Amino acid sequence: MSASFRVESSTGSYEVVVAQGNFEESLSRIEDAHILADEFFRPRFAGSGAEPIFIEATEHAKSLEHMPAVIEQLRAAGANRGTHLVAIGGGVVQDIAAFVSSVYMRGISWSYEPTTVLAMVDSCIGGKSSINVGPYKNLIGTFHPPDPILIDPALAATLPRDQFASGLIEAAKICFCRGRESFAAHMACGPATSMNTAALEGVIVNSLLAKKHFIEIDEFDKKERLLLNFGHTFGHALEGASNYGIPHGIAVGLGILCSLEFQRRRGIDFSGAASVGELERHLDTMIRTLPGLVEVLAGMSLDEVMERFGSDKKHRNDRYTLILAAPTGEVMLEQIPRGAESDARLRDAIQSTTEAYSR
Ligand SMILES: NC(=O)c1ccc[n+]([C@@H]2O[C@H](COP(=O)([O-])OP(=O)(O)OC[C@H]3O[C@@H](n4cnc5c(N)ncnc54)[C@H](O)[C@@H]3O)[C@@H](O)[C@H]2O)c1
Ligand SMILES: [Zn+2]
Repeated sequence: MSASFRVESSTGSYEVVVAQGNFEESLSRIEDAHILADEFFRPRFAGSGAEPIFIEATEHAKSLEHMPAVIEQLRAAGANRGTHLVAIGGGVVQDIAAFVSSVYMRGISWSYEPTTVLAMVDSCIGGKSSINVGPYKNLIGTFHPPDPILIDPALAATLPRDQFASGLIEAAKICFCRGRESFAAHMACGPATSMNTAALEGVIVNSLLAKKHFIEIDEFDKKERLLLNFGHTFGHALEGASNYGIPHGIAVGLGILCSLEFQRRRGIDFSGAASVGELERHLDTMIRTLPGLVEVLAGMSLDEVMERFGSDKKHRNDRYTLILAAPTGEVMLEQIPRGAESDARLRDAIQSTTEAYSR
């Protein structure tokens, strides 16, 4: 089975192809290309004739301080205005490739072969690059989509369970935000960290088609695309307060659970929305794949979570801006007045949610 579709963007449309075996086939064709590849894939290039620039996929690698090294290597390898860059890796390699190709000689074209579930189901489309500056994560970036995006689900087979789960959580979130039908289709794929990569193909296609809807109507994050931040204000606060001991997707899963608990504490009744319970049970299973979660949560300060929550740049002075689920399960953007009452509810929701995973 394979699937392909196009995503419309302000700079033209680009192609997405999902097919098992894509990767090996593409390797046989890219001998002359300039390649940026995750260090993990170094052995795959042995004897291929290609000489990729390898990237150690860490947050430091995608810092502004590291960009000159990548750019100089490209220049030394003879890349020019007509060069097409091929990127192979997860979100870190994607962010570097997107950023560098958007500025190198004022912009070169690039294509992308995502290798993590997170990148396959989510970040590979949308065109964003996000680069860290000093202590600030994802502070700067550009919009410069790759074309084509070649996805080979078989590459996910070597990922650790919690990384796999992290990606599945983002897929569940995107589909849930898209609506009941999309979420039902996601769950019908039987998403699990043990799933075979043939079944993962369905998860990828379903999630990318749901995301395509949001980015085509709101490419630059002004309105509808913001809904995809469901769970993220809570999630980023937990991710940061754990000193990044909780992977992004798992933190988003916990964040979604916190946001649902916050709603319940505001009197929202989800008993009419079966999908909410289904999402909660699924997230619970995925979150529990993280080894050492109990210890990470035990070492985390609730005050710091609250502080980070409050400093999210989407809030206004007097209001929190949050993506929350309505009683129907539909997600919407809400402005919640800041103050003692909201803060107590937020704190209680975060505390009771994380406590369930602290023992
Ligand atoms: N630009 C965007 O739209 C966007 C969206 C979401 C996330 N991101 C960014 O993506 C980054 C996270 O990316 P990620 O979660 O995809 O992972 P990653 O790129 O951080 O890689 C995680 C680890 O998995 C390894 N790895 C990659 N592919 C593998 C494979 N097939 N088998 C085994 N190991 C493999 C890497 O070497 C690394 O050690 C963050 O920096 C985040 O900010 C960007
Ligand atoms: Zn996310």
